[in-house]
Amino acid sequence: MNVLLVGSGAREHAIAKILCAQTSAMQLNCFAATHNPGIKKLAANFLVGNINNVHEVVEFARQHPVEFAIIGPEAPLEHGLADALWRLGVPVIGPKQKLAQIETSKSFARDLMKKYQIPGAPRYQVFQDIKGVEEFLRDLGEEGYVIKANGLMGGKGVKVAGEHLHSFDEALDFCRQVQASNQIFVIEEKLIGQEFSLMGFCDGKQVFIMPCVQDHKRAFQGDRGPNTGGMGSYSDANHLLPFLSAQDVEAARQINQQVMLALQNEFDEKYIGILYGSFIATRNGIAVIEFNARFGDPEAMNVLSILESNFADLCRAMINNSLTTNLVRFAPMATVCKYVVPEGYPDNGLKNAALDISAVKNPSQLYLASVNEQEGQLFTAGSRAVAVVGVAKTITEAEVLAEAEVMRIRGRVFHREDIGTSALIQQRIEQMRMLRAGSEL
Ligand code: AMP
Ligand code: GLY
Repeated sequence: MNVLLVGSGAREHAIAKILCAQTSAMQLNCFAATHNPGIKKLAANFLVGNINNVHEVVEFARQHPVEFAIIGPEAPLEHGLADALWRLGVPVIGPKQKLAQIETSKSFARDLMKKYQIPGAPRYQVFQDIKGVEEFLRDLGEEGYVIKANGLMGGKGVKVAGEHLHSFDEALDFCRQVQASNQIFVIEEKLIGQEFSLMGFCDGKQVFIMPCVQDHKRAFQGDRGPNTGGMGSYSDANHLLPFLSAQDVEAARQINQQVMLALQNEFDEKYIGILYGSFIATRNGIAVIEFNARFGDPEAMNVLSILESNFADLCRAMINNSLTTNLVRFAPMATVCKYVVPEGYPDNGLKNAALDISAVKNPSQLYLASVNEQEGQLFTAGSRAVAVVGVAKTITEAEVLAEAEVMRIRGRVFHREDIGTSALIQQRIEQMRMLRAGSEL
């Protein structure tokens, strides 16, 4: 069996690992952005190139015929890689360019929700220029707004009032900056609550959800410091989260389902791949922060490490529009994922620092990301280096496993000790309890 994998972070390492572990005759062809030694070891063919250059990837797919392709990150989707591969006759896990606008254009996503009356959207307005901005900001209140550049900005395009923006003047300056880069922008109501990720497999008919996951964006303990790509994440054995009820998750699932159907209706095209709703539980119920058209990173490591059904079969069923719950089975286990990152990350992550993972006890739960290998020695490459996952009956036990494993990794690196600890989870539960209590007053 031959599969093309596009991308080379820990998320893609997790995809590569499960494909190779579950299917003995797997021939993996990886078109990578970086030299990920973990994926390289598993792949029959491994080429580093520009994953956003559709022509280069298509050429690779021509040379190495495959049954289907999986596109890991969002940027190639925006460049129309899924469209090009389908044209070549290669089915793709990952939506076509137009459908991927659900992630690549914030205004498109909000307008779609409005048009199809999908619940969970905050008040928002789309702006082409500065006209009317101040009025809307004042309307939302001094600490009540979020400003988002429309397109993909690698996590740098969103500024939250009270966190990144401290006055209307700062807010207007940011809007001018975005406008100067020729982008439109969305201003929306700031939502207060607990964020969570609910990803689903889409077969063009239905969204089959995965366990809920909570990511941690801030670099340092106690949710302090700059935003990162995600420092770690956890999921619970019951596939909900300690601060979410089954009804909350059902509300989020329905939103994902409605969005998939709205997209298909809009473009008369099937959505094949992952739809990842980034939600927030507020005092008024479940609201939507944004959507992504791919697996989350680190969330992919949480869910793929407990997927019991065969992932290649699941992918085939998505492509054939024939997914069933039996093909989307997850073990009733909790997971905690922690990222080990180089000193200075995210602003100025140390590069070329030696990293020693030889003492790790369970390498099957270790996923390599931004690292290089030279003569058997790993070196940091500036971004998130290694993800470690603990799997156990409870979040607390999974945290202990992940933490013990992280401590076996040596180098000029750091991680968040607090992710998955009962102290942090109790805080989340308490915050949610207080928010909800407020709504009943
Ligand atoms: P995004 O790039 O849309 O995921 O935004 C990055 C982060 O900004 C999210 O993880 C949230 O923490 C925050 N954010 C985005 N939109 C909102 C909103 N409407 N209210 C509160 N926080 C938000
Ligand atoms: N976990 C955040 C993301 O994948 O976008």
